[in-house]
This record gives sequence, C-alpha cells and structure tokens, in this order.
Amino acid sequence: MEATKQQHHPLFNNQKHVRLARADLHQGDCLAVIPSLDGFFDAVVTDPPYSSGGQSKGNRAASTGAKYLNTGSIQWPDFAGDSKDQRSYLHWSALWMALCYEKLNPGGLMVVFSDWRQLPVTSDALQAAGFTWRGVGVWDKAGSARPYKGGFKAQTEFFVWGSKGPLVGDTYSAGLFRVQQKPGEKLHQVGKPLDLMEPLVAACGQRILDPFMGSGTTGLAAIGQGKEFVGIEVSEHYYQVAVDRLRGN
Ligand SMILES: C[S@@+](CC[C@H](N)C(=O)[O-])C[C@H]1O[C@@H](n2cnc3c(N)ncnc32)[C@H](O)[C@@H]1O
Repeated sequence: MEATKQQHHPLFNNQKHVRLARADLHQGDCLAVIPSLDGFFDAVVTDPPYSSGGQSKGNRAASTGAKYLNTGSIQWPDFAGDSKDQRSYLHWSALWMALCYEKLNPGGLMVVFSDWRQLPVTSDALQAAGFTWRGVGVWDKAGSARPYKGGFKAQTEFFVWGSKGPLVGDTYSAGLFRVQQKPGEKLHQVGKPLDLMEPLVAACGQRILDPFMGSGTTGLAAIGQGKEFVGIEVSEHYYQVAVDRLRGN
C-alpha cells in the first residue's frame, strides 16, 4: 500500500530566513513564523494588508493593483492577504495580534496601521488579543492623496495603538504626522514613507517586530536608529526587496 503523503497547510510552506547585522528577516506566513521567534520585543510596528479596497466580495477579490493604484501610475507586483471580508479580517487580526502579545515585553507597544473602513475592526481585534487600547494616531498624506469627486479627499490613514499592560516608555511623541510620499521612494504597491515610520519607531523601544514588513520600511527606520529589527513577509518578491534594501544598513 502506498504511504500517505504528509499534507502541509500553505501556512507552513517555503519559509526562508536571512540574518543581517541588525535584522532578522523571515519569509513565510506570520501566523507560522511568530511563534518560532526567539526572545521578546519592545514593540510591534506594522502595516498589515487592509482587505479594504472593495465593497463587495467580487471587488475585494480583485488584484491589489486594481484596488489601490490609480490607472497610469507605476506598477508594482500585487501583494498577499488582501481579500478577507470584515468578519474574517477581525478574526484573523485578533489571531496574529495575540501571537504578537505573547512575544512582547511587559508594557510593549502594538502600533498597527489601518484605513477608515477597517478602523473599528482593528481596535476591536487589538483589545480581543489582550492589549490595552490607548488611541488612534493619524497619517495626513498631504498632497499625495486620492481626490474624491463630489466628496472629501482620502487624505488620512490611521495607526491604532495599545500596550501590553501599563506603559513603560519615557518618550513623548506626536499623534499626527503630515508626511508626503517622495516621488520614486516607494518599493511596494502600498509602501509607507520612511519619514512617517521614523518618528513612530523612535517612540518604540529597542527591539522591533514587523510581521507584515513588505519592502522593509519599518526595518530601515529601526536600523537607522541603531535598533534591532525582526521582519516577516509572505510574498517572495517583497521579501527579497526587503532583504536587498536592508542589507548593508
Ligand atoms: C501593506 S503591506 C506592507 C508595506 C510596508 N509597510 C512597506 O512600507 O513596504 C503588507 C504586506 O504584508 C504581506 N502579508 C500579507 N499576509 C501576510 C502574512 N500572513 N504573513 C506575512 N506577510 C503577509 C503582504 O504580502 C504585504 O507585502
């Protein structure tokens, strides 16, 4: 009789790991990678897929390029994990946040980006995962935002933040950041500006985890400030972009 082949869930496929001077970079699904990480972190600073760019099931399943890029703009490869409906997004967010909770030091910060549509779900998930929800910060994109004919410019994104128990840091940080993406800066379809990530990372202790690192912008900010960074990215393309970007820093 033929032996039954072991069937792996896609979660556990294709994990890679590169260790740089100040960064550990993992390729894989963060639900599988986070539990395997060594040591504890002072903060999670991350920008997960928002699963937000469509109001119907069909729209959500469209490519991320079709959902988030203006026609005629530069094309970057699509990214993963962006087609959940809101209920499953809540459930999934609580899962990965709870795994992060386990890996944080007491008082550790959770800083998670969101857009207007997923804002309530993201703060629910943060609390369901065990964090004390402490506020919502604002990224004002200034000129680099999509205009809305007959409505209001989509000019802001948000970061929901909380802590694992009482706060322990001694920094005072602003809660609103007006940062325009510099032309040519983006290495990811929805990459964040370095000038936005730098002040967030500065408020966040010495060892930082980003489970959705994309092109590695959080990591670049952390390494630039002499901090230690651990990043996870499921897409092979963007993982390699992050490795190339952080190597040598
Ligand atoms: C919004 S992007 C992050 C962009 C990043 N802030 C930057 O500046 O480049 C989210 C990233 O999470 C990745 N991703 C989606 N699901 C994931 C998962 N389960 N585990 C790890 N990475 C995942 C996507 O491929 C995407 O590159």
